[in-house]
Amino acid sequence: KSVWAVVPAAGNGSRMRADRPKQYLPLLGKPVIRHTLERLISHPKIQGVIVAVAEQDPFWSDLMLPDDWPVYLATGGSQRSDSVFNALFYLRQLTDDDPWVLVHDAARPCLRHTDIDRMLTQLAEDPVGGILGIPMTETVKRVNDNHRILETVNRDNLWRAATPQMFHLKHLLQALQQTIDAQCQVTDEASAMEYAGFQPKMVEGHADNLKITLPQDLELAALYLQRQGD
Ligand code: C5P
Repeated sequence: KSVWAVVPAAGNGSRMRADRPKQYLPLLGKPVIRHTLERLISHPKIQGVIVAVAEQDPFWSDLMLPDDWPVYLATGGSQRSDSVFNALFYLRQLTDDDPWVLVHDAARPCLRHTDIDRMLTQLAEDPVGGILGIPMTETVKRVNDNHRILETVNRDNLWRAATPQMFHLKHLLQALQQTIDAQCQVTDEASAMEYAGFQPKMVEGHADNLKITLPQDLELAALYLQRQGD
């Protein structure tokens, strides 16, 4: 079964308060998304990457990716799930089989090949697929609108969801179509699969794989990348 990657990169990253979407901010001399794409393209099992880019995105062409990179462009949508759906739709026209798809945030440039390998190994025969995640280490509280603590949530079985999220192309397309039809907003692919009645598997990932959201995340990502290069 072939393996493809889909990278939603059509967000505007408003929480970063920068002059451009966070995936285009410089990180150790190159844009965040370039690190992300390199990590995926250089993995021997990944055949190619479909990137969902916003329609009026002036930054993408500045990346000047090498011509021989198997990178294909799809149009981003207003929600992350629309961007992923468009990319999956594009991929379906590109392949006639039902490949594995690894959906990975453009804003996660520190993904390790060992994490991809662990996923591919653990899920190889899985009928559903799964996602990378990290067990919760902090004590977790639910609060009300005034920030008063309502309860302490038992963290024993709580994980933080990361990406890649790995599913069979056909299942994921159907699941996303269902959530889009029902106008049910999902923030990751696993949620769409759960909505469609599947039970994705959680695969433990490395804590390096942070999602760049706030300015300080860039500093941390730079540290992680430098350390990984040692
Ligand atoms: O905003 P958030 O950090 O959750 O975005 C996660 C990923 O989804 C980012 O790589 C972002 O570019 C992408 N995204 C997208 N289309 C949107 C919103 C977010 O491709 N409409």
